Amino acid sequence: MIQIPRGTQDILPKDTYKWQYIENRLHSIAQNYNYKEIRTPVFESTELFVRGVGGSTDIVNKEMYTFKDKGDRSMTLKPEGTAPVVRSYIENKMQHDVNQPVKVYYQAPMFRYERRQKGRYRQFVQFGIEAIGVEDPLIDVEVLSMLMHIYQSFGLRNLKLHINSIGDQHSRAAYNQALVDHFRPSIHEFCSDCQVRIDTNPMRILDCKKDRDHPLVQNAPVIYDYLNDESKAYFEEVKQNLDALDIPYEVDYNLVRGLDYYTHTAFELMSDAEGFGAITTLCGGGRYNGLLELLDGPSETGIGFALSIERLLLALEAEGIELPEPEGIDLYICTLDQSASTAAGRLVHKLRTEGVSCDMDYKHRKLKAQMKDADRKGAAHTIVIGETELASGEAELKNMATGESEKISLDDIAEIRTIIEEK
Ligand code: HAM
Repeated sequence: MIQIPRGTQDILPKDTYKWQYIENRLHSIAQNYNYKEIRTPVFESTELFVRGVGGSTDIVNKEMYTFKDKGDRSMTLKPEGTAPVVRSYIENKMQHDVNQPVKVYYQAPMFRYERRQKGRYRQFVQFGIEAIGVEDPLIDVEVLSMLMHIYQSFGLRNLKLHINSIGDQHSRAAYNQALVDHFRPSIHEFCSDCQVRIDTNPMRILDCKKDRDHPLVQNAPVIYDYLNDESKAYFEEVKQNLDALDIPYEVDYNLVRGLDYYTHTAFELMSDAEGFGAITTLCGGGRYNGLLELLDGPSETGIGFALSIERLLLALEAEGIELPEPEGIDLYICTLDQSASTAAGRLVHKLRTEGVSCDMDYKHRKLKAQMKDADRKGAAHTIVIGETELASGEAELKNMATGESEKISLDDIAEIRTIIEEK
């Protein structure tokens, strides 16, 4: 039997309502903050991620689904959404749009070949936002407030917002040098990847999954000590504006994020709900001031975040929050013989086109079994059609909640609809 690929999941009909509920909520919150949806392709040129996310990150080095297309071009299923949005921004010259900053959101499957673990999938759905074209602590705070709003709107309580500043390019360069000085003498104690990282991208040693417990990682220099005055001032303003909105946060000097494009504000939202599992990051993001230029674009800056719906669902489960189940159908038509079935087929067809959700029996079950089926489908009303109803053209429309019945004409679609809508 062919099985589903490892690290992916089927979202079954019994569960899709949860996804739809979350997706609708996310779309509507994004609209409240005046972000518009952007859709980019599922695959992009591999080079976009190598340059954008960084050649020495785990995502690019180990986790990408990369393939050659028939034209021998290297393509990659997108592992994240920021680089594609920035590519689109540059290609479509959005810096000239009348609406500035450009505020977009996306919701799409992302692909990372990661070790399977609770909360970690090889295909997962990210909802993300990006605000491009303005560098101001206030927009950073808008992004953070929206992020908190999303999680709180579902009733989640065990949330911890960690923030840090990665500083500007100058601060980062000074910090990288400090890391090299710190790790170089003992680099032979580290994994082979870190032995390369020390020359290519020393910050990535800090989020190495293999060496994270090494004492030198634990007591590594912290970036805050290498921030220049401008970077410190920017960070202070972000914090003050978060305080002004009463958004609680924790400064986490060890938070460096696993993607290379970040500058200044970087953040992660964690769940500290019991039973959430080992991976506690619900959402991550930050500011990326050099990314547009790195991808040959204008010198605009951006900030955003992304979350996966899979982890949001895990957080809801860990906190015992249930999403409302959808209502059942408006009407179920039970039939007593073949000619009644034919009439019922016509009736459901007409009613459906009039906006009434309805269903009927196609398996020639006994009336009792059909009633059970109606119940399973949450039918608010039922009609039974047999020989008598066919002969008279009339039937009883039963309200399943009250048990009351009303006589209706089988041809009078408008009347049936009115009674159903009155319920
Ligand atoms: P990221 O931290 O790599 O950042 O991913 C963001 C979120 O995607 C994570 O916090 C998590 O919720 C989810 N996620 C990542 N990998 C997996 C996985 N294997 N399974 C399930 N969920 C996962 C980014 O992707 C950046 N593009 C975020 C960003 C937007 N920065 C600026 N703008």
